[in-house]
Amino acid sequence: MPAPRSRVAVLVSGRGSNMAALIDAAAQPDFPAEIAAVISNRPNAGALAIAERAGVPTAVVDHKAFASREEFDAALDAELRRVAPDIVCFAGFLRLLTPGFIEKWEGRMLNIHPALLPSFKGLDTHARALKTGVKLHGCTVHLVTAEMDAGPIIAQAAVPVLDGDDEDALAARVLAAEHRLYPRALAAWARGEARLVDGRVTTASAADEPPALIWP
Ligand code: GAR
Repeated sequence: MPAPRSRVAVLVSGRGSNMAALIDAAAQPDFPAEIAAVISNRPNAGALAIAERAGVPTAVVDHKAFASREEFDAALDAELRRVAPDIVCFAGFLRLLTPGFIEKWEGRMLNIHPALLPSFKGLDTHARALKTGVKLHGCTVHLVTAEMDAGPIIAQAAVPVLDGDDEDALAARVLAAEHRLYPRALAAWARGEARLVDGRVTTASAADEPPALIWP
């Protein structure tokens, strides 16, 4: 008998390309998770149409309809409890959540961040990477905790920063890496290969150690 697949809710705010990568990966029969729902805090997020086309149930919890962060988070919590996911994947979900919400779902929430954490937490990561002059940049999948972009790291992908890069070129290179990294990190977490031990994520990986990425 195949192992039961983890139920995943994906939280989005915008375009939804990472969500689409997760939906595509979960369409493979051997992927250890199914995308049970996509929830957006913005009614006009492009992600919603992509999810609907893929046959994934969608819901909108519009943050503008609530007077406070606490009320929005309570509505999001209620929607998530309806879906009853094992794992909640943030995929370009651009809302800060209250500590009360985080406490309820901590240990089950994954986020993808467009930088090699702990460098470049927060916004405008690509512009700051260019300004700083780092030669390697990338993306991180990590557990969500109360401190923004600071939860235990599950997996990272590095890409070179090229001399001619502007923000768009660098963002596109990182985004392509995000689309490879997020399904892989979700699969490792869902299978229990990646798990939290003493505040850090350990990964039982059968893969060979990759060569160093050296640039230039
Ligand atoms: C992605 O690059 C993701 O890493 C980033 O937003 C983009 C969403 O694109 N997330 C953050 O910056 C979170 N702080 P997408 O909607 O096409 O997946």
